Amino acid sequence: MINIVLFASGSGSNVENITKYFKNYKNVSVRAIFCNKPDAYVLTRAKNLGIKSVLFNRNDFYNSSKVLDELQKNGADFVILAGFLWLIPENILKAYDGKIINIHPALLPKYGGKGMFGMNVHKAVVENCETETGITIHYVNANYDEGRHIFQAKCPVLPTDTAEDVAHKIHELEGLYFPKIISETIGAEE
Ligand code: GAR
Repeated sequence: MINIVLFASGSGSNVENITKYFKNYKNVSVRAIFCNKPDAYVLTRAKNLGIKSVLFNRNDFYNSSKVLDELQKNGADFVILAGFLWLIPENILKAYDGKIINIHPALLPKYGGKGMFGMNVHKAVVENCETETGITIHYVNANYDEGRHIFQAKCPVLPTDTAEDVAHKIHELEGLYFPKIISETIGAEE
């Protein structure tokens, strides 16, 4: 069995997609949702999906081994960042070298780095009159959005598009590709 743990701190639409996608896979189990925000909607989704959630704070993450211990207790083989914004600390990077995968809502290296997440990205894309944007799925290293790319997909940005329109297009791409690319990357079997 390949055990995956999902890290999220937002609404959790990707968490929901990924969890539903792997429900019928014979060798993949979504073991838990790890979350750093007590009021994040992803926690409600986790409950509705019947998946355990593990809540942690900044101190747990950066100054203790609590989160790594929890990953190991849950038998995590892969860590998927699905709308998670904190840099991953050294102890977890070491234990999960090449096993942590993130999705970013832009065509990296464009619109990456600290502060570039969610709507901030889409607003910048519209302000800069980009004609296309997209998603990047990549391995995670010690810097924001710099790990090796696994996959990118593009969509057009029209001159009339608002940041909300772009967000909608990006969520569609994420729904379409993120679970599938995770599946290929971790060696899942249907
Ligand atoms: C997603 O669009 C994801 O690409 C983005 O956060 C959103 C979470 O949505 N991630 C980042 O910006 C990471 N830098 P969700 O909570 O509905 O899945």
